[in-house]
Amino acid sequence: MSDPIDLAAFPRDFAWGTATSAYQIEGAVAEDGRKPSIWDTFSHTPGKVDNGDHGDRACDHYHRWPEDIALMRALGTDTYRMSVAWPRIVPDGDGPVNTAGLDFYDRVVDGLLDAGITPSVTLYHWDLPQALQDRGGWTVRDTAEHLAAYASVVADRLGDRVTHWATLNEPLCSGWIGHLEGRMAPGLTDLTAAVRASYHLLLAHGLATAAVRAAAPGARIGLVTNHSTVEPASSRPEDIAAAVRMDGHTNRWWLDPVHGRGFPADMRELYGVELPERPGDLGTIAAPLDWHGLNYYFPATVADDPHGPVPHAREVRLPGVPRTGMDWQIDAGGIEALLMRLTDDYGVRRLYVTENGSAFPDTVGPDGAVDDPERTRYLEEHLAACARAIRKGAPLAGYYAWSLLDNFEWAYGYDKRFGLVHVDYATQTRTIKASGHRYADIIRAHRLATAG
Ligand code: IFM
Repeated sequence: MSDPIDLAAFPRDFAWGTATSAYQIEGAVAEDGRKPSIWDTFSHTPGKVDNGDHGDRACDHYHRWPEDIALMRALGTDTYRMSVAWPRIVPDGDGPVNTAGLDFYDRVVDGLLDAGITPSVTLYHWDLPQALQDRGGWTVRDTAEHLAAYASVVADRLGDRVTHWATLNEPLCSGWIGHLEGRMAPGLTDLTAAVRASYHLLLAHGLATAAVRAAAPGARIGLVTNHSTVEPASSRPEDIAAAVRMDGHTNRWWLDPVHGRGFPADMRELYGVELPERPGDLGTIAAPLDWHGLNYYFPATVADDPHGPVPHAREVRLPGVPRTGMDWQIDAGGIEALLMRLTDDYGVRRLYVTENGSAFPDTVGPDGAVDDPERTRYLEEHLAACARAIRKGAPLAGYYAWSLLDNFEWAYGYDKRFGLVHVDYATQTRTIKASGHRYADIIRAHRLATAG
């Protein structure tokens, strides 16, 4: 049995939401002036994405967004976390602005507000304009400046109606998975490139924070980072040291500089790559934020791996533990621990769970329903853990389920389904899954529990 969710723990104005990102759902990759991003290039490179899948059509959200907003209403959510595609707005990365791209997001934002749903806009969810990649991408400083200029254009256009902004989504994935592990665009396996990219991503975050504040006074700005709890596989000192390194790589490298501690010295030494630092950068990176967004999916258990790639820590697959269709271990205690770490260790004063969810191989039954008990259980267990964190003092203000829709799951293509809503990609039919109905019930029950 799942833990009962202590709904009364969630504040009355708690924001219940769903999340998506532009490249994963929009399609329409060559419409209205959009130009390619690194994900168009990567997904069309043979062998990079399972089944040769790509985002050319995805969920066709570009044309079906009114239907998707109606789905959010059916779920009863308060808020929707979406991303804006840089290659629609500034198709070459810098230079001319494409007003047709801005018009699209204008319509979506108005549609959300008309439906009583608060938009939360992420400026960068991995779709770097290919033209900038051709000039060095995140390994060069100019890209950070260009992101800030693009952020200013978007905030200038939408900032009269959007107050909730995130600069980047999961810079760890852009930096480490895209430049070190090569499993995501741009597909590099180069430590120097990865460390430089990580630095410029965080610099871009700081510069974009200032740009959005200047263009949209009153904006509430945050950064969205993904984390795992890290445990050593044994009590051997080597494994404990490996866990410290993995924690540095996954957690501290991203959180410390943003929260004013600079880049962790042990990791700088381990990477052995000179940071492209200029005076004042650390202050820019540590710009005060209004909130922090945690994306949580799974914990990590690691063993020493002296000959393996940085950080020389190998993930150990624990036997007999529950896993999702991604083969990710399910451990709701991880979200609680990370919320408490952000609260107690980093002193964050306003938190959101900006993503949390699970993939399973769902099918539509003969009765037209999608029964997904594992996802429902994952949702319930993680919400129960969020409630425990709130009781312990975590200033959690909202939760965004990943994802509203089944969508393009990056290198895994369309086989991995994370949605609360099933998408039949051949017909583009949407069906709310049992987990989506359960989420709607939880939201309703919370409103009842805190009414009055
Ligand atoms: O689909 C992704 C999303 O784009 C970023 N966070 C993790 C999700 C699941 O892998």
